Amino acid sequence: MSESRITDNLPPEIASRVTGSVINEGRATVVLDVAGLGEDSRLAIEADVKQSLAGVPDIADVRVVMTAERKGPMIIAIGSGKGGVGKSTLTANLAIALARKGVKVGLVDADIYGPSQPVIFGTQGQRPDARDNKPIPLASKYGVDHLSMGHLVAPGKALAWRGPMAAGALGQLIEAHWSEDTHILLIDLPPGTGDVQLTMVQKFKPAGAVLVSTPQDLALIDAARAGQLFDTAGVPVIGLVENMSGYACPHCGETSDPFGSGGVEAAAGRLELPFLGRIPLAMDIRQGSDAGEPPAAGDGAHAGAFHAIAEKLATWISERS
Ligand SMILES: Nc1ncnc2c1ncn2[C@@H]1O[C@H](COP(=O)(O)OP(=O)(O)O)[C@@H](O)[C@H]1O
Ligand SMILES: [Mg+2]
Repeated sequence: MSESRITDNLPPEIASRVTGSVINEGRATVVLDVAGLGEDSRLAIEADVKQSLAGVPDIADVRVVMTAERKGPMIIAIGSGKGGVGKSTLTANLAIALARKGVKVGLVDADIYGPSQPVIFGTQGQRPDARDNKPIPLASKYGVDHLSMGHLVAPGKALAWRGPMAAGALGQLIEAHWSEDTHILLIDLPPGTGDVQLTMVQKFKPAGAVLVSTPQDLALIDAARAGQLFDTAGVPVIGLVENMSGYACPHCGETSDPFGSGGVEAAAGRLELPFLGRIPLAMDIRQGSDAGEPPAAGDGAHAGAFHAIAEKLATWISERS
């Protein structure tokens, strides 16, 4: 009875946050879940609860208890069958494109043997601060907080790590101090489908995975294998992306097809997986990545390709949030 007497007198957006309440000898205790709210909103809600319940019969005094059960961000993994197909490039540009849409997104560079996000974000050489032994992700000028093994250990040092150590190291990155409003954590997985990848995927259970491949058949076979990895771990594949799809010549503006194109879309059809889009092989994509100026951050010729894929990803995310 007391529960409804309290919630009936609260504005609906606050009532929906009530996880418990009791009235005892004139004193009402209201427990609210305030996860995701900042300090100012919490104070405002507390004042609102007190004001709304003032004057309700039998309530002389109101105590507000706030809890913030952190649900944590939704993890989305970006995988590929092999290295060098543009997984890191895609991950960084999708993160930036999502951030430009207003999604609070963090990025974990899980390619502990060959981290490349510090270069792409222009944060190489920076060292994250730590609190309670957990790293604090680095900010970037693109609105994407990120963390890479490349920020934590000397180059090449992780090479000797075996599976459990690698997974442990990844855990440190994923369980870092991401800001409370971080909605999505994109994970740039190491290439391939070995035990390390399987352990990672099983342990951290992404909500979904995006697979990147180049158009060549060999890469496609590898991508299909990566798909099986996610299947084994019960992680749904959100879709496939074709990278280095046709060569966009910076001189003549023509696009040619050194590796063929369309192969990934055909493979997606065969595998009955969604096709998310294609990114051309373009000089300025490579140059932008190396210079810490990813194309999705600007409005150049190739920004749109990344934004179109991010749009599909955002739709997938919003259907599951
Ligand atoms: N669409 C593209 N056009 C031109 N260069 C690209 C493209 N995608 C990736 N690259 C370049 O290819 C190299 C490998 O890409 P990277 O994203 O590091 O691959 P992976 O993470 O799969 O190993 C990098 O130098 C990157 O800048
Ligand atoms: Mg990479």
